[in-house]
Amino acid sequence: MTTSPPPKTYRVKSFGCQMNVYDGERMSELLASQGIAPAADGEDADLVVLNTCHIREKAADKVYSDIGRLVKAGDKVGKRPLIAVAGCVAQAEGEEIMARAPAVSMVVGPQAYHRLPEMLEAAVRGESTSDTDMPPIAKFDALPARRRSGPSAFLTVQEGCDKFCTYCVVPYTRGAEISRPYNDLAAEADRLVEAGAREITLLGQNVNAWTGEDPHGRPIGLDGLIRALAERPGLHRIRYTTSHPSDVTDGLIAAHGEIEKLMPFLHLPVQSGSDRVLKAMNRSHTADEYLRLLDRFRAVRPDIALSGDFIVGFPGETEAEFIDTLRLVDAVGYAQAFSFKYSPRPGTPAATMEDQVSPEVMDERLQRLQAALNRDQLAFNRATQGRRCTVLVERHGKKPGQWLGKSPWLQSVWFEGDHAIGDLVEVELLEAGPNSLEGRVLQQPVPA
Ligand code: 5AD
Ligand code: SF4
Repeated sequence: MTTSPPPKTYRVKSFGCQMNVYDGERMSELLASQGIAPAADGEDADLVVLNTCHIREKAADKVYSDIGRLVKAGDKVGKRPLIAVAGCVAQAEGEEIMARAPAVSMVVGPQAYHRLPEMLEAAVRGESTSDTDMPPIAKFDALPARRRSGPSAFLTVQEGCDKFCTYCVVPYTRGAEISRPYNDLAAEADRLVEAGAREITLLGQNVNAWTGEDPHGRPIGLDGLIRALAERPGLHRIRYTTSHPSDVTDGLIAAHGEIEKLMPFLHLPVQSGSDRVLKAMNRSHTADEYLRLLDRFRAVRPDIALSGDFIVGFPGETEAEFIDTLRLVDAVGYAQAFSFKYSPRPGTPAATMEDQVSPEVMDERLQRLQAALNRDQLAFNRATQGRRCTVLVERHGKKPGQWLGKSPWLQSVWFEGDHAIGDLVEVELLEAGPNSLEGRVLQQPVPA
């Protein structure tokens, strides 16, 4: 048992999805509330939290190479940091992590990280602890209130998944679907706005499965939550992600036509364009049902930018079935999308299915799919040239006087002028590239 001095500095390193980014921010706030300071850039921290992702094999393996690097760097200067493994690898692999990597003294799952301060006390005493309990909501009640925010903030409203797509670990690592209560969300949103957020992205593994009650006790869904948040004067933009086709409601579609602050963007993963593959994935929708849903969003918001997720090489996927995916891509014309090679995850039904697709075939299909998606992304960006829109300034550009922000359609836009982070600037979109557009400023920022 080796004791350590209490850590003075920390670093939280988040991998994977936006919910991990949110969790990472909340862990940072929690550590700061214990008097521990964030380590400066380039400085070794006394405490490192690796906030991990388990969604694909490559993501999960990263944690062990990172631990190895931390140990090596620590030994070089004669001071190893305290290491905590958080996130979905912690949940999936639990105490096995400490057996494989003894340098790790804390293993904490995504629903238990509010307990980090106690675990840290034990680590300082030289004891290793692991907490992968899944008490719904307890975490949020125990965390300190939000105090800092950039112009664009994340807010977790829903967590977990009951869909059990046959390839996916999320139902096991994040647990069953739970919705945070309306009052808690309204309060957190208000704190974020007070702290400088002009845009809030509502997060959930199935964010559109969120349900709650408004202050009058009436049942509401995600659209009701969005409507309520849109009434806050300091909040200018609302987004949400990730949605599931089965949980799209009439109300949510209508909201896109009615609520100006709800940005014209929809991330709606489909995964495959083949009905046989979708069935084997347990996706509960066909390709055609998905396309009809998109039509309904487009009917109320014709300029809506569409985004999705795709998996190539799901077990048994034939060339013809892959071509169905390319056809669906052609039919949609995505503004952007994410595509992945299928990665067998231990404990999921697909991992033991027959006819696993060879890595070479997966590589080739991924390249073809990405070529189609890149083509459509550029086409979408080009189609927005000449449009006038508001850009939320998020950071400085590379050159002095240059700024970077997001258009309503989530495109990165750069422009020049006398601005500040958090400004909402009216621009005309000029030259479009595959990943960003140049903007020309039309009007001075909208005052906060
Ligand atoms: N292999 C590859 N991609 C996966 N995803 C989820 N599980 C796997 C897996 N086992 C992708 C899906 C999902 C996104 C978050 O990650 O496309 O929508
Ligand atoms: Fe995973 Fe499917 Fe749930 Fe999305 S809906 S988190 S892909 S199980």
